[in-house]
Amino acid sequence: MSFAFGIGIGSQNKQGEWLEVFYQQPVMTPDSTLMEVIRNAMDYHGGNLAISAAAEQLSQLANALRQVGETGQAVLAEKAANSKRPVVVTILETDDTASSTPEVYLKLHLISHRMAKPHGLKLEGIFGLLPNLAWTNEGAIDLNELPERQLQARLEGRTLEVKSVDKFPQMTDYVVPKGIRIADTARVRLGAYVGEGTTVMHEGFINFNAGTEGTSMIEGRISAGVMVGKGSDLGGGCSTMGTLSGGGNIIIAVGENCLIGANAGIGIPLGDRCKVEAGLYITAGTKVALLDDNNELVEVIKARDLANQPDLLFRRNSQTGAVECKTNKSAIELNEELHANN
Ligand SMILES: CC(C)(COP(=O)(O)OP(=O)(O)OC[C@H]1O[C@@H](n2cnc3c(N)ncnc32)[C@H](O)[C@@H]1OP(=O)(O)O)[C@@H](O)C(=O)NCCC(=O)NCCS
Repeated sequence: MSFAFGIGIGSQNKQGEWLEVFYQQPVMTPDSTLMEVIRNAMDYHGGNLAISAAAEQLSQLANALRQVGETGQAVLAEKAANSKRPVVVTILETDDTASSTPEVYLKLHLISHRMAKPHGLKLEGIFGLLPNLAWTNEGAIDLNELPERQLQARLEGRTLEVKSVDKFPQMTDYVVPKGIRIADTARVRLGAYVGEGTTVMHEGFINFNAGTEGTSMIEGRISAGVMVGKGSDLGGGCSTMGTLSGGGNIIIAVGENCLIGANAGIGIPLGDRCKVEAGLYITAGTKVALLDDNNELVEVIKARDLANQPDLLFRRNSQTGAVECKTNKSAIELNEELHANN
């Protein structure tokens, strides 16, 4: 059983190096009939490969696909045969570490198409395979070729608009998954998993390999690797701590039906039904006064010990400055739970 497949239309620089690839219909775990067609038409003999495809080869592929009833892929291959842009047929036999730009793009597409979940794919080493590009109103441009293209555009009476300079493009230029709203599309990168029912407001941001399971209002930052459970909201300007820089190694997640207040932040994974007061940043080492349902102190513990626990309310006591965690449990229940693994 192969892992993934996609016919992509891409861009290359003047050296013929891939800059980016658009896969309109990526396939996860292609069945044996589809793989047989690809083997014959593309002269493919296994492994993870990105094959640059010529028009004639694509026409043959289209015919073969049509014969086995793969109409959607056949139509795509037929159209790709007439493409003005370079076409690549990418086949991943396994989810191994990627070795080319088209392979990375296929993986990012699989996540944004909701075919694979964040943390579900091997993404180690992808930064080295993603060139830093100018994303313009005329497509992706190699930074070395940008000044010439800018001049050319001006000479022809146009302005080349550089929308971003980055390794990742915005997701919506590649896929808009069903049932979402994104107020400012630049703030969601390709490789984000945006669950059905999610709204990302202007302040919201979703990195690659991160996202939401379902209904959510996102007005804060979802860092790489962070997954937000159904029914949870991220308030304006709040932050979920990433693991890409700064030494943090706990994978942050947000459970279901949580609220992270405006300008708050979390450096621990939250369980279901948790709230964090607006403006309070909880890091893993934050000392927290744990209060029971009568506001009595149970003990002072580090926030990391409350990771993944449900039904917690974190706040900074506005009179003492101490970070407190209120629960809906009695002191005895809490003590038993906290010390169960001592
Ligand atoms: C932390 C939070 C959830 C508490 O809200 P709540 O559960 O409704 O609590 P209340 O505001 O009703 O307060 C309950 C009691 O705790 C007290 N209290 C609340 N926050 C407190 C604090 N930080 N320190 C001390 N006492 C506090 C209240 O004064 C009140 O006291 P009372 O019982 O004597 O009247 C809320 O303040 C908050 O920050 N919500 C986030 C909202 C947000 O940012 N949304 C996103 C928008 S983009």
